[in-house]
Amino acid sequence: MPATEFRLGVVGTGYVGLTTGACFAHLGHHVVCGDIDQRKVDLLNDGHIPIVEDGLEQIVNESRSLGRLDFVLGSQAAAADADIVFLCVPTPQGEDGSADLSYIEQAAREIAPVLKPGAVVVNKSTVPVGSTIAVEKVLQRDDVSVVSNPEFLREGTAVNDFLMPDRVVVGASNRAAAEKVAELYADIDTQIIITDPSSAETIKYAANGFLAMKISFVNAVAAMCEHVGADVAAVVDGIGSDTRIGSRFLNPGPGWGGSCFPKDSRALVKIAEDHGYNFSMMKGVIDVNDEQRKRMIDKIAKAVGRHQSDLSGVCVGGMGLTFKAGTDDLRESPAMAIIAELRKVGAEVKAFDPTTCGVLSPHQTSALTGVELTTNLIDIADDVDVICVFTEWPEFAKVDLDELANRAGKGTTIVDTRNLFDPDAVKNAGLRYDGVGRR
Ligand code: UDX
Repeated sequence: MPATEFRLGVVGTGYVGLTTGACFAHLGHHVVCGDIDQRKVDLLNDGHIPIVEDGLEQIVNESRSLGRLDFVLGSQAAAADADIVFLCVPTPQGEDGSADLSYIEQAAREIAPVLKPGAVVVNKSTVPVGSTIAVEKVLQRDDVSVVSNPEFLREGTAVNDFLMPDRVVVGASNRAAAEKVAELYADIDTQIIITDPSSAETIKYAANGFLAMKISFVNAVAAMCEHVGADVAAVVDGIGSDTRIGSRFLNPGPGWGGSCFPKDSRALVKIAEDHGYNFSMMKGVIDVNDEQRKRMIDKIAKAVGRHQSDLSGVCVGGMGLTFKAGTDDLRESPAMAIIAELRKVGAEVKAFDPTTCGVLSPHQTSALTGVELTTNLIDIADDVDVICVFTEWPEFAKVDLDELANRAGKGTTIVDTRNLFDPDAVKNAGLRYDGVGRR
């Protein structure tokens, strides 16, 4: 149990807000989470978790039964008697690439009149540099402090990432407020970095920008490997063993996606430009990512002997739809982007994903219009001209390749955008193989 039990408010119950609230309750604090969606609040109060997050349901229900976690409608009910209030609302990408702060500002306006004197408001959402000051201006409360405490949570492993972080970053101009927020993490064995707000906000974007760059770098090296006849798996082994490089986040693929990298990489470029710096390297990282999608479509076209401008009559069997394994999130999924392009040039697509073979959410239903979903993996092989691995679900690697070859027809190509399969095993089953940067 923590030395001090704080009363916390959390505004927003998406994967960041819900994880933050549940984990702080798990650490022994009293948490009230508020959301604008009554249906979502009711679901949560009935113990139903609307997102796929490993371990989340368990700590939510454990904390609720201990009376340390409540879900309420609206931000004011969450913030009313809180010592510290976390803003975990969306900061979507605006038209010009900048982060849209309207939800943060709206939440700040709502909670301003109910905050206790001495309360601390924390920006947990990913917000542009300078947002801590922007929230202070909206609150108009000189007896309240605003602190930046960016999250470094990966979807699917958010609970693990919260409770076992590499570091916690706290940015504040008021040292006492910073130390109060730092105290919340006292029972977590990690490094606490206390700095100024702008540095904390920049750390978040620089972290995501660097990770996206690392992935774009390996995707570019994979493209080069295909030209020079090298094998990217050997190259990654060879460079990753240098501890200054490391082999994590060096898995080639169809390009990065998800609700963060695409929006944060563009926001980083925009923030830099708005302050007079042309972040050309980050623009290159984004360009490589866009090219990677096109490279995958070109592989699919080549597999069926067609040009990528016309795939009419071609049927593609897709393995995976989510932006990565371990999540049910289709937002900015490379699979969805590639499938949309394939359908634009006349291809038909059938696909299997472990998270879309049950009852679909309204978001999934609309995103998957025109895609024929199968209820089991092997059925994507029937009557297809090419098979494509889009998402690296571990169970896909266990598929019976001989049965896949029988159902798809010998000589059918697997375009493996995640280098999930052993090329020799695929060829031994009578299929053709095209990976990313593989010999
Ligand atoms: C990311 C950051 O990792 C996290 O710290 C931040 O808080 C939010 O954004 P997330 O978007 O959930 O997390 O997913 P992540 O695991 O980083 O993957 C992002 C994308 O990169 C996915 O499309 C994934 O498939 C791709 N990826 C990741 C690769 O292509 N290769 C890799 O080696 C790693």
